[in-house]
Amino acid sequence: MVKLDEVKTLNAALLAESRRPLIGVFLGGTSGIGHMTARALTSSAQQANGHAPRVYLVGRSEQRGREIVEELKGDLPGGHVPVRAGRGPIAHGVRRRHTKEGLDVTMAMMYYSRMRAIQQLKPLLLKSELPAAVVSVFAAGFEAKLFRDDLSLRDPQHYSYLQARSHLCHMHSAYLAKLAETHSDDTTGKLRLVHIFPGLVLTSAFDNPAYPAWFRFLFNRILVPLFLRPFVAVDSDESAARMLSLASPVLYPAANVGDGGGETGTGGAVRGMDGSLGSGAYSLDWKGDDIHNRKAYAKLGDDGEVEALKNQVWEHTNKAFEIIAAGKCFTE
Ligand SMILES: NC(=O)c1ccc[n+]([C@@H]2O[C@H](COP(=O)([O-])OP(=O)(O)OC[C@H]3O[C@@H](n4cnc5c(N)ncnc54)[C@H](OP(=O)(O)O)[C@@H]3O)[C@@H](O)[C@H]2O)c1
Repeated sequence: MVKLDEVKTLNAALLAESRRPLIGVFLGGTSGIGHMTARALTSSAQQANGHAPRVYLVGRSEQRGREIVEELKGDLPGGHVPVRAGRGPIAHGVRRRHTKEGLDVTMAMMYYSRMRAIQQLKPLLLKSELPAAVVSVFAAGFEAKLFRDDLSLRDPQHYSYLQARSHLCHMHSAYLAKLAETHSDDTTGKLRLVHIFPGLVLTSAFDNPAYPAWFRFLFNRILVPLFLRPFVAVDSDESAARMLSLASPVLYPAANVGDGGGETGTGGAVRGMDGSLGSGAYSLDWKGDDIHNRKAYAKLGDDGEVEALKNQVWEHTNKAFEIIAAGKCFTE
């Protein structure tokens, strides 16, 4: 477990040592973990007396975005917090629901849109003189059954939320690992990719109208106060500090930096998805430790099969992007 004190030290160093203002882009920054992490960034900058960071918040609710801008500006006089709002569907579901691009809504929200954002922002990340960390907050380690001949889960017999979650985790792991590999000879030693399960963090997500009223009542009025908040949930400030610390290269260095301590040279890199220390692509539990589900991968067969899956997911995902960018519907 990465101790909370260490997390705070990493964050202070990240802000204090940065020679330029840090830039944080929060997709889903208008509530929950994204909002809290943006706030952790601005308040850490203030405490570390570092440069005021530049924060971009992306979400659907422009009003909520503007309220958060006002809140963050309190921490960040002179800081810059633009908001980008857009329309989008609500995820979660027991049945596959298509977007007009031909993707399942839940899979689009939790996987395709995230990988697309990484690919679109990658040129800027690689050009930047700042540490370039990408963090996807979802469900690392929850890989289970995989239908290799139906990655999109188009067969209704294959689809359930849990099955979709399993595919989303397999696809996160495969795509991020492949992306790290494709940059392993990048001498700038920049790109660091993290998929993390944040634990249970009590956000407004659990009051989402997509859930049935009975579930919301039982969860928010009974389970949260009696059991979850006191015994199970991760404190929201702690969670935000932990998410921010993933931007530090000390524990999670880029692929070509190895285990020699990342860009800061202090040692102690965490094991990456491929099993080696500091491999550039990490699958983490809420405490920042490696949680890559090696059992699920062992079931695939030998290393050759794992490699084949990586290539399959890479090609599937990039093909989806190509077809959709051309204005067509993805049907595979
Ligand atoms: N909280 C937990 O305990 C927990 C546990 C495991 C995994 N996670 C994962 O962590 C992530 C964040 O969770 P959270 O609890 O912070 O969720 P949240 O409070 O519901 O926040 C979700 C964010 O995504 C934005 N969003 C939702 N639908 C969108 C769409 N169609 N287009 C653009 N933006 C959209 C929301 O903003 P708008 O409403 O303004 O669009 C909001 O900023 C999720 O992927 C969740 O699966 C959370």
